[in-house]
Amino acid sequence: MTDRIAKLEIDGESYEFPVLSGSVGPDVIDIRTLYAKTGHFTFDPGYTSTGSTESAITYIDGNQGTLLYRGYPIEQLAEKSSFLEVSYLLLNGELPSKAEFAEFEEKITRHTMLHEQMVKFFEGFRRDAHPMAIICGAVGAMSAFYHDSTDITDPKQRVIASHRLIAKMPTIAAWAYKYSVGQPFIYPRNDLGFAANFLRMCFAVPAEEYVVSPTMARAMDRIFTLHADHEQNASTSTVRLAGSSHANPFACIASGVASLWGPAHGGANEACLNMLREIGSVDRIPEFIARAKDKNDPFRLMGFGHRVYKNFDPRAKVMQQTAHEVLSELGVENNPTLQVAQELERIALEDDYFIEKKLYPNVDFYSGIILDAIGFPTSMFTAIFAMARTVGWISQWKEMIDDPKQKIGRPRQLYTGATTRDYTDISDR
Ligand code: SDX
Repeated sequence: MTDRIAKLEIDGESYEFPVLSGSVGPDVIDIRTLYAKTGHFTFDPGYTSTGSTESAITYIDGNQGTLLYRGYPIEQLAEKSSFLEVSYLLLNGELPSKAEFAEFEEKITRHTMLHEQMVKFFEGFRRDAHPMAIICGAVGAMSAFYHDSTDITDPKQRVIASHRLIAKMPTIAAWAYKYSVGQPFIYPRNDLGFAANFLRMCFAVPAEEYVVSPTMARAMDRIFTLHADHEQNASTSTVRLAGSSHANPFACIASGVASLWGPAHGGANEACLNMLREIGSVDRIPEFIARAKDKNDPFRLMGFGHRVYKNFDPRAKVMQQTAHEVLSELGVENNPTLQVAQELERIALEDDYFIEKKLYPNVDFYSGIILDAIGFPTSMFTAIFAMARTVGWISQWKEMIDDPKQKIGRPRQLYTGATTRDYTDISDR
């Protein structure tokens, strides 16, 4: 709280609203009493100037290119931590001690299996179903398989549901992939780390053992860390709004999966690799840059631009470095898609349109190149984003449910439709 006041004058009447400060970042004008005092709503479609909640989880500075998880810079966590340790940090607010981490890792490891009846649930889908369609359905269906962790008023059930979601998303995503390629499901193994377990469930076959490459496992773990949380983005806001009605956590996370799927959000990694492939070679880049700048062409450079980052997305820098590590380990560093991506980035960052509109590569620009090199089809890219973001969604949901001031989210509107009029019989129309 500050002692600063914001003044608003409407039709000669003056109104005052408190200005609140957080620990870092822009101050906010507390307008919770605006409608009661003035009979006016604010109007901010897309929430470009609206803080929807107080939060202590993730901080982003779009001009500085800063991303902090509970105060720790993403660059340090990506280099020194692990996805499971970052998951503990996001959920609990502090890095775990050795004993705390061992207990958390044990809990997650023992929740990776799915209820065996879910195998039949998967078999209800067409084989060519998009993995995100399957994941959306399977996560929502968890409400029907794990009744003993759907009561959000019971703190113990909230914790179990959180662990189940973090632990089972890799199995659900891997099985969605296996189902789409017609291969048998591979069950999780408790002797493997989080990322290695996921890679094995995706790429092992019963006919032979699959040895997980430590470099690939490290790259996947880093990709999970980079995608774990991101303040009040579209899918997290969807989870919070769904959770504000006290819907069960599985239903809330399913709503986050649905929102993330959009190509303007998490679906951009799939759309970006498809775009890079469509460009195909460096000499076609100017044609696509021109299309991206053409107001009459709906085409946008996928993997470019961000609502908050107006300088650079710190995750994109770590992702670019990881791409080089993975491609050189695979001996494909002259990968044509990577060459197109790097040349596209170079040209775009020198182009006045992109400089003026502050468009830089975002987290989705390089991630697809890494996932493609590891062997995932583009249809799995957003599924992997959803797996990682589940801990962020759950942490934000938990913060909201734990807030004693929590209310159901219910925005208002500027109504521009017909005013009251009388019904006329069809014979008179
Ligand atoms: C993610 O919010 C998050 O934190 C999301 C995320 C997370 O971790 O949760 O970071 C993950 O979703 C990253 C973003 C992935 N999406 C894409 O890469 C899709 C392509 N990018 C855009 O569609 C767009 O940049 C958004 C959606 C990401 C941001 O859109 P904004 O903030 O609403 O900005 P805008 O659409 O108002 O664009 C501002 C201007 C516009 O021009 P004008 O109308 O002002 O003339 O920039 C232009 C846009 O036309 N513009 C682009 C562009 N992005 C914006 N022009 C060409 N190519 C682009 N990619």
